[in-house]
Amino acid sequence: MGPNEFGLHQDTVNRVAADIKQAVEMGVEVCVVVGAGNIFRGVSGAAEGMDRTTADYMGMLGIVINALALQNALENTGVMTRVMSAIPMSAICEPYIRRKAMRHMEKGRVVIFAAGTGNPYFTTDTAAALRASEMNCDAMMKGTKVDGVYSADPAKDKDAKRYDTLSYMDVLTKDLKVMDATAISLARENDIPIVVFSVKEEGNFAKALSGEGTYTVVSN
Ligand code: GTP
Repeated sequence: MGPNEFGLHQDTVNRVAADIKQAVEMGVEVCVVVGAGNIFRGVSGAAEGMDRTTADYMGMLGIVINALALQNALENTGVMTRVMSAIPMSAICEPYIRRKAMRHMEKGRVVIFAAGTGNPYFTTDTAAALRASEMNCDAMMKGTKVDGVYSADPAKDKDAKRYDTLSYMDVLTKDLKVMDATAISLARENDIPIVVFSVKEEGNFAKALSGEGTYTVVSN
């Protein structure tokens, strides 16, 4: 949503696409899981008092909107993509089929996974850990608002300290709020390192992939 309060900020979508393109040009095979906080903020008033499952399904539909926006922005820069949705909506995108997603990636396409896991009660981070496990990813890169994991919220506590490395257990036992416990546990079980970096500045994704810049690595 960039500087907006909700929705899609086109320059920001294009920036994220440019960051992904940079990684693809480095020879990294990329698949993407997007969330829908930006869309959901626009409907959160209506979602108040709604049951959790309905609100979660609305979130999954929001993700499809974001996935299509990202697909469009990536293809405008010449990066070939495929959107695959955990909830089949065949008029809009492909349904998620693991082996097909693998083939798309082998062909150099960026695969954008939409609609989370397709189930309520599971977060986008859990969807990311699940897809990273299924696609045998070497790492899960979590682009966020801050440049890593801190001991406290850096926006509220100026003494908050950034960690360079953490174990999965540290995150769970210190309740560090990088990701929910389901996502962390899945990554831990499948030994997928999580790299937390800031998406706010251009080029940070490629930097983190090259071991430059600031980020936190969560691993065994
Ligand atoms: P390869 O055969 O591996 O090269 O894959 P491909 O994706 O290029 O071939 P395919 O013929 O499956 O797809 C051609 C186009 O149709 C691509 O843009 C796909 O994303 C799209 N497509 C494939 N299946 C579906 C579907 O179920 N729904 C929608 N909406 N689009 C689809």
